[in-house]
Order: sequence, then C-alpha cells, then structure tokens
Amino acid sequence: MVKRNINIARLPSAYLFPEIGKRKKMHLEKNPNAKIISLGIGNTTEPITPHIASALKNAAQGLGTVDGYTGYGEEQGMPELRKKISSQVYNGKISPEEVFISDGAKCDIARLQVMFGSNAKIAVQDPSYPVYVDGSIIMGQGGDAVKGQFGNIVYMQCTPENNFFPDLGKIPKTDLIYFCSPNNPTGAVATKEQLTSLVGFARKNASIIIFDAAYSEFISERGLPKTIYEIDGAKEVAIEINSFSKSAGFTGVRLGWSVVPNELKYADGYPVRSDWNRIVTTLFNGASNIAQHGGIAALDDKGLKEIKSLVSYYMENASMIRSALESLGIEAYGGINAPYIWARMTGKNSWDTFERILDKCNVVTTPGSGFGPAGEGFIRFSAFGHHADVREACDRMKRNL
Ligand code: MLT
Repeated sequence: MVKRNINIARLPSAYLFPEIGKRKKMHLEKNPNAKIISLGIGNTTEPITPHIASALKNAAQGLGTVDGYTGYGEEQGMPELRKKISSQVYNGKISPEEVFISDGAKCDIARLQVMFGSNAKIAVQDPSYPVYVDGSIIMGQGGDAVKGQFGNIVYMQCTPENNFFPDLGKIPKTDLIYFCSPNNPTGAVATKEQLTSLVGFARKNASIIIFDAAYSEFISERGLPKTIYEIDGAKEVAIEINSFSKSAGFTGVRLGWSVVPNELKYADGYPVRSDWNRIVTTLFNGASNIAQHGGIAALDDKGLKEIKSLVSYYMENASMIRSALESLGIEAYGGINAPYIWARMTGKNSWDTFERILDKCNVVTTPGSGFGPAGEGFIRFSAFGHHADVREACDRMKRNL
C-alpha cells in the first residue's frame, strides 16, 4: 500500500471555499425553498464585455479553420500578450520576457511554491488568501493545520489596530513574504510608503516578496500603487502575480501572469527567472490560446474601457454592502479599493456568524477565520454579484441581523 503524503494529511480535509459550498448545500437541503444569495467566494457574475467576448469568439472560430488553427504555443505565453502587459500594465518598466502568461494567479502560486521547494521559510499576512498557507503546507514548508500548529510559518498580523499593515520591526527574517494588495480578504491597500518599507525590509533580509496584485484594477483612490514595481528597488526582491479573473470576468476562462524580473537573483547569483522559466516550461504547457486572445483584447483601448466599467459595476455593489453594514452599526473595512468588505462581528466566532447570516438572511458569506487566526470574529463579504441580488441581500441583512 502507498503511504499517504504526510503534508496533505496536515491540511483540513476541505479547502475553505468547498467547505462553504458544502454548508450552503446542507442549508438548501434543510430549506429547499430558500433563495440563497452568495456573497461568499469572489466569483464574477457579469457577462464578459462585448469587445473581449468577440475576441474570444473569433479565436475559437479561428481554431476551426486550417489557417487559424494553432496547437501548443510558447509555454511563457504569446509574445503579443507579453508585450501588451509590459506596455499597458507596467509602462515598459518590465520587459516582455520578464512576463510569463499563465492560467491564473492561484496556479502560479502553486508553481512558485514548487520552485522554492520544501525548505523555504515563509511569512504571510494574517489574514490572507488561504492558498499561500495551504499550498506551503502541501510543499512541506511547515505547519500542520489539523493540529493548529504553524510554528515555521510567520504570521504578520494585519488588523484594524495596525491599519492592516504589519509591524515589520517585529517580523523575523524569512525566505518568502507573501503580500497581497489590495488585500483579499480585508480590502486594505498598502500605500507607497508602506510598500517602500516592505521592499526595504525584504532587501535587508535578502527575502523575496511574492506580491499578489490580482485586485489592482479595483484601486480607485489616486496615488496608491497598483504594482510593487512602482517602488524603487523592487525588481531585485519581488515577483508579482496578477490575473484577468476578477477585472475581465475570466474566473472561468482562466488567464493570469507572473513577473520575474531579470534583476532577481538567488544567494549564489543565479537568476530566479531562469528557474521560473524551467518550472513553467516543465510543469505547464501554456495558457489556452483562446484565453490569450481575450487577454490581448482586454488590454487594448476598448478592452481597458470595458474592464473599467465592469470594475465600477462591482464596486457599486461594494459600496451598497458597506453602507448596509454601517447602517447596522457594524464596523466595516475595505470596499473602496477592493471588491471585499471586511466586517467585525463582535462577540461571535466567524463560523457561528456565517451560520447565523445564512439562517436568518439566506446569504452566504466567508468566515474570517478561514483566512487565518487574525480573521477570527470577522466576516468577508464579496462584492461580486448582480446588483439586484446584492440589493436584496443588503435588505435582508438590514431586516434580520
Ligand atoms: C476568493 O473568494 O477569495 C477568491 O475569489 C478565490 C480565488 O480567487 O481563488
């Protein structure tokens, strides 16, 4: 008999979002007529916008013709898309060969974890996107979620008390620092000064920052950095990941990218980019060619305009949710530069509150404790949904909570 991978046994049996799905299903079995509204997982709901949809359609149709057919492409992505990302997202500050196209941020995180291997010591924001910790545990980088032991994972508390930015003076040196801004789940965005101190901290410790910018398009306030490379010196210490999922509605289409600058080196001077190229070409066969044509369209003038309107649509939901919570006297954060609202629900643990909101309002949320110990007592509301559903969810909460 094959022995089970001990690292997988160190995880709870279900990942956060399938666990929420299971509880939603159980609620429906008990209440078959319940009209459930989901403000749980950040899953996009609005149609892909016309210009981008038409690029996807044309690419799919092209595959049905002799001239338009293509098989495997370059694992690193279509040169045209890499070029577009270089110019449109990074103003040419990042070169196309430093951009690697992928099937999404989550998959890139997993491949990065493989690249850094089981000896890497990591630091994460607490709370944070669960893949950073769960994926690291799978890789054997430490921690046992079942036993509640995370000894070798450094949790950097990000709470309202420290304005959602860790006290770096108290954080020990690690190899990797995961940092997500705008943050999932808190909705907080790091300022230029804060990111400058993070880059300085990484440089001092010779750490590598894995900067998750998946929600950068949701930043509405001026002067807030949309990429870590706005910070001087970041190229020597930071990898960035990003995605078309939330901004262009590609959660199902699957398309993202990573940036590994040429300047980023290991302790022995070997370029990290070369290893990343090795990992990508070995463990990945390139993103869907159809999706990549969609990405190219998303980054031309029409596409960018469409993305803006899609983002504004979801941000109207965010402001509706935040106002509803505030009208109930609930302490709420985020929802201004990110599609998540982070609410402190006093006196209750997160899963109890999750169940209470589900029972009383038929609204699915995400319990804050699912994002880390500092998330206990909080609930995350996602702003992805149809306006009418979000309005209805807010009315139900105002009536019943
Ligand atoms: C979330 O709800 O946190 C995310 O949407 C899930 C994901 O992107 O994998």
